[in-house]
Amino acid sequence: MDVQPRYVGAPAVLTLFDRPILAIETSCDETSAAIVHGRTVLSNVVASQIAMHRKWGGVVPEAAARAHVEAILPVIEEAFANANIDKSELGAVAATNRPGLVGALSVGVTAAKAIAYSLRVPLLGVHHLEGHLLSTLALDAPPQFPHVCLIVSGGHTELVDVQAPGKYRIVGQTRDDAAGEAFDKGARLLGLGYPGGFAIQQEANSGNPHRYALPKGLSGDTIDFSFSGVKTAVLRLTEKEGASLNVPDAAASLQEAIVSVLVERALRAMDRMDSSALTLVGGVAANLELRSRLAAACMQNGYTFATPPLEFCTDNAAMIGLAASYRLARGEADGWDLDVYPNAEL
Ligand code: KG4
Ligand code: ZN
Repeated sequence: MDVQPRYVGAPAVLTLFDRPILAIETSCDETSAAIVHGRTVLSNVVASQIAMHRKWGGVVPEAAARAHVEAILPVIEEAFANANIDKSELGAVAATNRPGLVGALSVGVTAAKAIAYSLRVPLLGVHHLEGHLLSTLALDAPPQFPHVCLIVSGGHTELVDVQAPGKYRIVGQTRDDAAGEAFDKGARLLGLGYPGGFAIQQEANSGNPHRYALPKGLSGDTIDFSFSGVKTAVLRLTEKEGASLNVPDAAASLQEAIVSVLVERALRAMDRMDSSALTLVGGVAANLELRSRLAAACMQNGYTFATPPLEFCTDNAAMIGLAASYRLARGEADGWDLDVYPNAEL
Protein backbone atom coordinates (compact mmCIF):
# COMPACT_ATOMS: atom_id res chain seq x y z
CA MET A 1 0.00 0.00 0.00
CA ASP A 2 1.32 3.46 -0.87
CA VAL A 3 1.02 5.96 1.88
CA GLN A 4 2.08 9.41 2.60
CA PRO A 5 1.85 12.27 4.01
CA ARG A 6 1.03 12.62 7.65
CA TYR A 7 -1.40 14.44 9.83
CA VAL A 8 -1.39 18.15 10.43
CA GLY A 9 -3.06 20.16 13.17
CA ALA A 10 -2.98 20.45 16.93
CA PRO A 11 -2.77 17.36 19.20
CA ALA A 12 -6.24 16.02 20.05
CA VAL A 13 -7.70 16.48 23.51
CA LEU A 14 -9.76 13.61 24.82
CA THR A 15 -12.96 14.24 26.78
CA LEU A 16 -14.60 11.14 28.23
CA PHE A 17 -18.17 10.38 29.36
CA ASP A 18 -18.70 11.39 32.98
CA ARG A 19 -20.92 8.49 34.14
CA PRO A 20 -20.36 4.71 34.33
CA ILE A 21 -20.88 2.81 31.07
CA LEU A 22 -21.90 -0.84 30.74
CA ALA A 23 -20.01 -2.28 27.75
CA ILE A 24 -20.69 -5.62 26.06
CA GLU A 25 -18.50 -7.59 23.62
CA THR A 26 -19.77 -10.73 21.84
CA SER A 27 -18.29 -10.46 18.33
CA CYS A 28 -16.57 -13.87 18.31
CA ASP A 29 -15.87 -16.44 21.01
CA GLU A 30 -15.67 -14.42 24.24
CA THR A 31 -18.75 -13.22 26.12
CA SER A 32 -17.62 -10.12 27.96
CA ALA A 33 -19.16 -7.29 30.00
CA ALA A 34 -17.39 -4.40 31.68
CA ILE A 35 -18.19 -1.28 33.65
CA VAL A 36 -16.00 1.66 32.65
CA HIS A 37 -16.01 5.14 34.18
CA GLY A 38 -13.78 7.64 32.39
CA ARG A 39 -10.49 5.82 31.87
CA THR A 40 -11.10 3.63 34.90
CA VAL A 41 -12.14 0.03 34.30
CA LEU A 42 -14.30 -0.84 37.33
CA SER A 43 -14.85 -4.44 36.17
CA ASN A 44 -14.11 -6.59 33.13
CA VAL A 45 -15.62 -10.09 33.05
CA VAL A 46 -14.72 -12.46 30.19
CA ALA A 47 -16.36 -15.88 29.71
CA SER A 48 -14.37 -17.75 27.10
CA GLN A 49 -15.85 -20.38 24.76
CA ILE A 50 -12.41 -21.67 23.84
CA ALA A 51 -12.88 -25.04 25.53
CA MET A 52 -16.05 -25.66 23.50
CA HIS A 53 -14.57 -24.60 20.13
CA ARG A 54 -11.34 -26.53 20.77
CA LYS A 55 -12.98 -29.85 19.82
CA TRP A 56 -13.68 -28.50 16.33
CA GLY A 57 -10.32 -26.72 16.01
CA GLY A 58 -11.95 -23.32 15.46
CA VAL A 59 -15.01 -21.17 16.09
CA VAL A 60 -18.38 -22.61 14.96
CA PRO A 61 -20.65 -19.53 14.51
CA GLU A 62 -23.95 -21.17 15.47
CA ALA A 63 -22.46 -22.74 18.59
CA ALA A 64 -20.82 -19.41 19.50
CA ALA A 65 -24.17 -17.56 19.33
CA ARG A 66 -25.90 -20.13 21.53
CA ALA A 67 -23.09 -20.00 24.08
CA HIS A 68 -23.37 -16.19 24.19
CA VAL A 69 -27.12 -16.54 24.93
CA GLU A 70 -26.33 -18.75 27.92
CA ALA A 71 -23.50 -16.61 29.26
CA ILE A 72 -24.60 -13.03 28.62
CA LEU A 73 -26.84 -12.34 31.63
CA PRO A 74 -24.61 -14.01 34.26
CA VAL A 75 -21.59 -12.18 32.80
CA ILE A 76 -23.40 -8.80 32.98
CA GLU A 77 -24.53 -9.52 36.56
CA GLU A 78 -20.96 -10.34 37.54
CA ALA A 79 -19.70 -7.12 35.91
CA PHE A 80 -22.11 -5.08 38.07
CA ALA A 81 -21.20 -7.05 41.20
CA ASN A 82 -17.43 -6.67 40.66
CA ALA A 83 -17.76 -2.94 39.95
CA ASN A 84 -19.89 -2.60 43.05
CA ILE A 85 -22.31 -0.17 41.44
CA ASP A 86 -26.08 -0.19 41.16
CA LYS A 87 -27.78 -0.24 37.75
CA SER A 88 -29.39 3.11 38.55
CA GLU A 89 -25.93 4.74 38.46
CA LEU A 90 -25.38 3.74 34.82
CA GLY A 91 -25.10 6.55 32.27
CA ALA A 92 -25.06 4.55 29.02
CA VAL A 93 -24.81 1.09 27.45
CA ALA A 94 -22.39 0.24 24.62
CA ALA A 95 -22.00 -2.97 22.63
CA THR A 96 -19.81 -4.16 19.76
CA ASN A 97 -22.08 -4.16 16.69
CA ARG A 98 -19.46 -4.58 13.91
CA PRO A 99 -17.59 -6.45 12.47
CA GLY A 100 -18.03 -10.04 13.68
CA LEU A 101 -20.25 -13.11 13.54
CA VAL A 102 -23.79 -11.75 13.10
CA GLY A 103 -25.46 -14.29 15.40
CA ALA A 104 -22.88 -13.64 18.10
CA LEU A 105 -23.06 -9.83 17.73
CA SER A 106 -26.87 -9.92 17.89
CA VAL A 107 -26.83 -11.45 21.36
CA GLY A 108 -24.73 -8.63 22.82
CA VAL A 109 -26.56 -5.86 20.97
CA THR A 110 -29.98 -7.21 21.97
CA ALA A 111 -28.98 -7.38 25.63
CA ALA A 112 -27.56 -3.84 25.40
CA LYS A 113 -30.80 -2.54 23.87
CA ALA A 114 -32.96 -4.14 26.56
CA ILE A 115 -30.87 -2.72 29.41
CA ALA A 116 -30.51 0.77 27.88
CA TYR A 117 -34.23 0.88 27.12
CA SER A 118 -35.30 -0.17 30.58
CA LEU A 119 -32.94 2.34 32.25
CA ARG A 120 -33.70 5.10 29.71
CA VAL A 121 -30.01 5.74 29.02
CA PRO A 122 -28.21 6.20 25.65
CA LEU A 123 -27.23 3.15 23.55
CA LEU A 124 -24.11 3.10 21.38
CA GLY A 125 -22.81 0.53 18.87
CA VAL A 126 -19.00 0.27 18.75
CA HIS A 127 -16.61 -0.93 16.04
CA HIS A 128 -14.58 -3.86 17.42
CA LEU A 129 -11.31 -2.51 16.01
CA GLU A 130 -11.89 0.93 17.51
CA GLY A 131 -12.17 -0.93 20.82
CA HIS A 132 -8.75 -2.55 20.29
CA LEU A 133 -7.29 0.77 19.08
CA LEU A 134 -8.36 2.64 22.20
CA SER A 135 -7.63 -0.18 24.68
CA THR A 136 -4.45 1.77 25.55
CA LEU A 137 -6.63 4.42 27.26
CA ALA A 138 -6.73 2.09 30.28
CA LEU A 139 -3.02 2.69 30.86
CA ASP A 140 -1.84 5.05 33.62
CA ALA A 141 0.08 6.92 30.93
CA PRO A 142 -2.13 6.63 27.83
CA PRO A 143 -0.60 7.52 24.45
CA GLN A 144 -0.89 11.03 23.07
CA PHE A 145 -2.58 11.69 19.75
CA PRO A 146 -1.48 11.43 17.01
CA HIS A 147 0.23 8.05 17.13
CA VAL A 148 0.69 4.94 15.02
CA CYS A 149 -1.10 1.77 16.14
CA LEU A 150 -0.23 -1.82 15.21
CA ILE A 151 -3.41 -3.91 15.51
CA VAL A 152 -2.68 -7.64 15.50
CA SER A 153 -5.49 -10.09 16.16
CA GLY A 154 -7.05 -13.29 14.86
CA GLY A 155 -8.73 -11.44 12.00
CA HIS A 156 -6.62 -8.30 11.52
CA THR A 157 -3.07 -7.10 10.98
CA GLU A 158 -3.10 -3.37 10.38
CA LEU A 159 -0.92 -0.34 10.85
CA VAL A 160 -3.16 2.62 11.58
CA ASP A 161 -2.39 6.32 11.57
CA VAL A 162 -4.40 7.38 14.66
CA GLN A 163 -4.70 11.10 14.03
CA ALA A 164 -7.27 11.75 16.77
CA PRO A 165 -10.02 9.75 18.48
CA GLY A 166 -12.33 8.74 15.63
CA LYS A 167 -9.87 9.82 12.93
CA TYR A 168 -8.11 6.74 11.64
CA ARG A 169 -6.30 5.90 8.44
CA ILE A 170 -5.11 2.40 7.64
CA VAL A 171 -1.62 2.76 6.17
CA GLY A 172 -0.51 -0.88 6.07
CA GLN A 173 -2.33 -4.21 6.20
CA THR A 174 -2.12 -7.91 5.48
CA ARG A 175 -2.78 -9.02 1.94
CA ASP A 176 -3.93 -12.47 3.07
CA ASP A 177 -3.92 -14.07 6.54
CA ALA A 178 -3.79 -12.14 9.81
CA ALA A 179 -0.86 -12.61 12.20
CA GLY A 180 -3.14 -14.41 14.69
CA GLU A 181 -4.27 -16.79 11.95
CA ALA A 182 -0.62 -17.60 11.19
CA PHE A 183 -0.10 -18.47 14.88
CA ASP A 184 -3.33 -20.49 15.00
CA LYS A 185 -2.76 -22.42 11.75
CA GLY A 186 0.90 -23.01 12.57
CA ALA A 187 -0.06 -24.35 16.00
CA ARG A 188 -2.59 -26.73 14.45
CA LEU A 189 0.04 -28.07 12.03
CA LEU A 190 2.46 -28.58 14.92
CA GLY A 191 -0.21 -30.38 16.94
CA LEU A 192 -0.32 -27.68 19.61
CA GLY A 193 -4.09 -27.14 19.58
CA TYR A 194 -6.38 -24.12 19.48
CA PRO A 195 -6.05 -21.20 19.91
CA GLY A 196 -2.49 -21.27 18.78
CA GLY A 197 -0.85 -18.01 19.80
CA PHE A 198 -0.36 -18.75 23.47
CA ALA A 199 0.53 -22.41 22.74
CA ILE A 200 3.24 -21.36 20.25
CA GLN A 201 4.63 -18.86 22.75
CA GLN A 202 4.85 -21.50 25.49
CA GLU A 203 6.44 -24.10 23.22
CA ALA A 204 8.86 -21.50 21.81
CA ASN A 205 10.27 -20.88 25.29
CA SER A 206 12.42 -23.99 25.03
CA GLY A 207 13.10 -23.78 21.28
CA ASN A 208 15.78 -22.38 19.00
CA PRO A 209 14.24 -19.57 16.87
CA HIS A 210 16.99 -19.90 14.24
CA ARG A 211 16.72 -23.66 13.68
CA TYR A 212 14.28 -23.52 10.75
CA ALA A 213 14.31 -20.66 8.22
CA LEU A 214 10.72 -19.61 7.51
CA PRO A 215 9.64 -16.97 4.97
CA LYS A 216 8.67 -13.51 6.17
CA GLY A 217 6.45 -12.61 3.20
CA LEU A 218 6.67 -9.53 0.91
CA SER A 219 10.12 -8.20 0.21
CA GLY A 220 10.99 -4.58 -0.48
CA ASP A 221 10.11 -1.29 1.10
CA THR A 222 6.54 -2.09 2.11
CA ILE A 223 4.44 -1.65 5.26
CA ASP A 224 1.95 -4.32 4.20
CA PHE A 225 2.10 -7.94 5.40
CA SER A 226 1.62 -11.44 4.00
CA PHE A 227 1.41 -14.47 6.29
CA SER A 228 0.09 -17.15 3.94
CA GLY A 229 3.63 -18.19 2.91
CA VAL A 230 4.78 -18.93 6.44
CA LYS A 231 1.77 -21.18 7.00
CA THR A 232 2.55 -23.19 3.83
CA ALA A 233 6.22 -23.36 4.84
CA VAL A 234 5.28 -24.87 8.24
CA LEU A 235 3.15 -27.46 6.42
CA ARG A 236 6.10 -28.35 4.12
CA LEU A 237 8.40 -28.52 7.15
CA THR A 238 6.14 -30.99 8.95
CA GLU A 239 5.92 -33.13 5.78
CA LYS A 240 9.67 -33.07 5.22
CA GLU A 241 10.79 -33.65 8.81
CA GLY A 242 8.01 -36.02 9.89
CA ALA A 243 8.67 -37.55 13.30
CA SER A 244 12.11 -35.97 13.52
CA LEU A 245 10.66 -32.44 13.59
CA ASN A 246 11.75 -30.60 16.71
CA VAL A 247 8.45 -29.00 17.76
CA PRO A 248 9.83 -26.39 20.20
CA ASP A 249 12.36 -25.29 17.54
CA ALA A 250 9.59 -25.11 14.91
CA ALA A 251 7.35 -23.07 17.27
CA ALA A 252 10.23 -20.72 18.11
CA SER A 253 11.09 -20.33 14.42
CA LEU A 254 7.46 -19.55 13.55
CA GLN A 255 7.20 -17.00 16.36
CA GLU A 256 10.49 -15.45 15.20
CA ALA A 257 9.25 -15.16 11.58
CA ILE A 258 5.99 -13.48 12.62
CA VAL A 259 7.41 -11.21 15.33
CA SER A 260 10.39 -9.99 13.33
CA VAL A 261 8.24 -8.96 10.37
CA LEU A 262 5.75 -7.16 12.66
CA VAL A 263 8.57 -5.24 14.33
CA GLU A 264 10.28 -4.39 11.03
CA ARG A 265 7.09 -3.05 9.38
CA ALA A 266 5.99 -1.11 12.49
CA LEU A 267 9.36 0.67 12.62
CA ARG A 268 9.20 1.40 8.90
CA ALA A 269 5.71 2.87 9.34
CA MET A 270 6.95 5.06 12.21
CA ASP A 271 9.72 6.36 10.01
CA ARG A 272 7.45 6.92 7.04
CA MET A 273 4.78 8.65 9.11
CA ASP A 274 7.43 10.67 10.94
CA SER A 275 5.76 9.59 14.18
CA SER A 276 7.26 9.37 17.66
CA ALA A 277 4.58 7.27 19.42
CA LEU A 278 3.62 3.65 18.74
CA THR A 279 0.91 1.49 20.31
CA LEU A 280 0.47 -2.29 20.07
CA VAL A 281 -3.03 -3.78 20.52
CA GLY A 282 -5.14 -6.89 19.76
CA GLY A 283 -4.93 -10.54 20.79
CA VAL A 284 -1.44 -11.09 19.34
CA ALA A 285 -0.25 -8.09 21.39
CA ALA A 286 -0.40 -10.54 24.31
CA ASN A 287 2.70 -12.22 22.83
CA LEU A 288 5.56 -11.54 25.23
CA GLU A 289 8.28 -11.79 22.59
CA LEU A 290 6.49 -9.21 20.40
CA ARG A 291 5.89 -6.88 23.36
CA SER A 292 9.50 -6.92 24.50
CA ARG A 293 11.02 -6.68 21.01
CA LEU A 294 8.82 -3.71 20.05
CA ALA A 295 9.43 -1.99 23.39
CA ALA A 296 13.20 -2.36 22.95
CA ALA A 297 13.11 -1.17 19.33
CA CYS A 298 11.07 1.90 20.31
CA MET A 299 13.43 2.73 23.13
CA GLN A 300 16.39 2.46 20.76
CA ASN A 301 14.73 4.86 18.32
CA GLY A 302 13.52 7.34 20.92
CA TYR A 303 9.82 6.54 20.36
CA THR A 304 7.27 6.24 23.16
CA PHE A 305 5.63 2.82 23.25
CA ALA A 306 2.33 1.77 24.83
CA THR A 307 0.59 -1.58 24.97
CA PRO A 308 -2.27 -2.52 27.32
CA PRO A 309 -2.06 -5.16 30.05
CA LEU A 310 -2.68 -8.69 28.70
CA GLU A 311 -6.34 -8.81 29.81
CA PHE A 312 -7.13 -5.85 27.52
CA CYS A 313 -5.29 -7.35 24.50
CA THR A 314 -7.45 -10.40 23.78
CA ASP A 315 -11.15 -9.68 23.23
CA ASN A 316 -12.79 -7.93 26.18
CA ALA A 317 -15.60 -5.47 26.87
CA ALA A 318 -13.47 -2.90 28.75
CA MET A 319 -11.93 -1.72 25.47
CA ILE A 320 -15.44 -1.32 24.01
CA GLY A 321 -16.40 0.88 26.98
CA LEU A 322 -13.24 3.00 26.52
CA ALA A 323 -13.99 3.51 22.83
CA ALA A 324 -17.63 4.32 23.60
CA SER A 325 -16.68 6.86 26.25
CA TYR A 326 -15.35 9.66 24.06
CA ARG A 327 -18.20 9.22 21.54
CA LEU A 328 -20.85 9.40 24.27
CA ALA A 329 -19.12 12.50 25.67
CA ARG A 330 -19.60 14.08 22.24
CA GLY A 331 -23.33 13.29 22.45
CA GLU A 332 -23.27 10.40 19.98
CA ALA A 333 -25.89 7.65 20.44
CA ASP A 334 -27.75 5.08 18.32
CA GLY A 335 -31.46 4.38 17.97
CA TRP A 336 -33.33 1.26 19.13
CA ASP A 337 -33.00 -0.03 15.54
CA LEU A 338 -29.20 -0.41 15.94
CA ASP A 339 -28.15 -3.25 13.62
CA VAL A 340 -25.16 -5.64 13.46
CA TYR A 341 -22.72 -5.96 10.52
CA PRO A 342 -20.40 -8.87 9.64
CA ASN A 343 -18.01 -6.54 7.80
CA ALA A 344 -17.35 -2.86 8.43
CA GLU A 345 -14.61 -0.37 7.66
CA LEU A 346 -12.85 1.19 10.61
O1 KG4 B 1 -8.15 -9.90 19.47
P1 KG4 B 1 -8.46 -11.34 19.61
O2 KG4 B 1 -8.74 -11.87 20.99
O3 KG4 B 1 -9.65 -11.75 18.71
C1 KG4 B 1 -9.86 -11.20 17.45
O4 KG4 B 1 -10.43 -10.07 17.38
O5 KG4 B 1 -9.42 -11.87 16.49
O6 KG4 B 1 -7.21 -12.12 18.98
C2 KG4 B 1 -7.17 -13.52 18.99
C3 KG4 B 1 -5.83 -13.98 18.42
C4 KG4 B 1 -5.74 -15.48 18.18
O7 KG4 B 1 -5.27 -15.70 16.87
C5 KG4 B 1 -4.72 -15.93 19.22
O8 KG4 B 1 -3.97 -17.08 18.81
C6 KG4 B 1 -3.85 -14.72 19.36
O9 KG4 B 1 -4.77 -13.64 19.32
N1 KG4 B 1 -3.10 -14.71 20.61
C7 KG4 B 1 -1.74 -14.77 20.66
C8 KG4 B 1 -1.38 -14.81 22.03
N2 KG4 B 1 -2.54 -14.77 22.76
C9 KG4 B 1 -3.56 -14.69 21.87
N3 KG4 B 1 -0.82 -14.81 19.67
C10 KG4 B 1 0.47 -14.86 20.03
N4 KG4 B 1 0.89 -14.95 21.31
C11 KG4 B 1 0.02 -14.91 22.34
N5 KG4 B 1 0.44 -14.96 23.61
ZN1 ZN C 1 -10.49 -8.69 18.68
